[in-house]
Amino acid sequence: MNLFAKTALASFLAAAVAVAALPASAQQAKPEDLLKLRQGLMQAVKSQWVPIAAFSQGKADLPANAAEMAANLSLLAKLAPIGWAKGTESLPNSATKPEAFGAKAGQFADGWKALETEAAKLADAAKVGPDAVKAQAANVGKLCKGCHEELKKD
Ligand code: HEC
Repeated sequence: MNLFAKTALASFLAAAVAVAALPASAQQAKPEDLLKLRQGLMQAVKSQWVPIAAFSQGKADLPANAAEMAANLSLLAKLAPIGWAKGTESLPNSATKPEAFGAKAGQFADGWKALETEAAKLADAAKVGPDAVKAQAANVGKLCKGCHEELKKD
């Protein structure tokens, strides 16, 4: 794992631990900690995606650990909804549109499931070769972009 990925995962884990360490009686995590958890999850997603995206855009070589990063990305997509759990609907400074918790909550959940599935396919593609990675990376990239356009504030 590269340094950026380590840093991103470390900040995500620190936020996750901060939230998990709260006493059960005081499940009122501080809004800023919940936002850090959400942002840390997304930074971890980014860290496992950017090197593969750079390759698929012809800007970098295929990372030797592309299959591992894609498998991490799939796991992170599975974990991501933790960052948008009940009680996080109106965090100050969040970039999530309110619809993600309302009319488009189903679509939001489906977006993470799709990323989990497509990133797992990307891990398989990385075992096949560079052309397979390029083809499948396009499908993953569409999911990031699609959800951001729909449910992330600018
Ligand atoms: C199902 C929806 C969805 C998918 C899929 C998704 N994102 Fe996001 N992403 C969001 C939302 C919503 C936010 C805004 C978070 C907030 O601040 O409330 C966000 C924020 C981010 C951020 C900013 C985090 C920060 O620190 O403020 C990054 C970076 C990011 N996404 C990268 C990605 C990448 C890369 C992918 C694809 C591999 C991806 N996202 C897929 C919904 C999604």
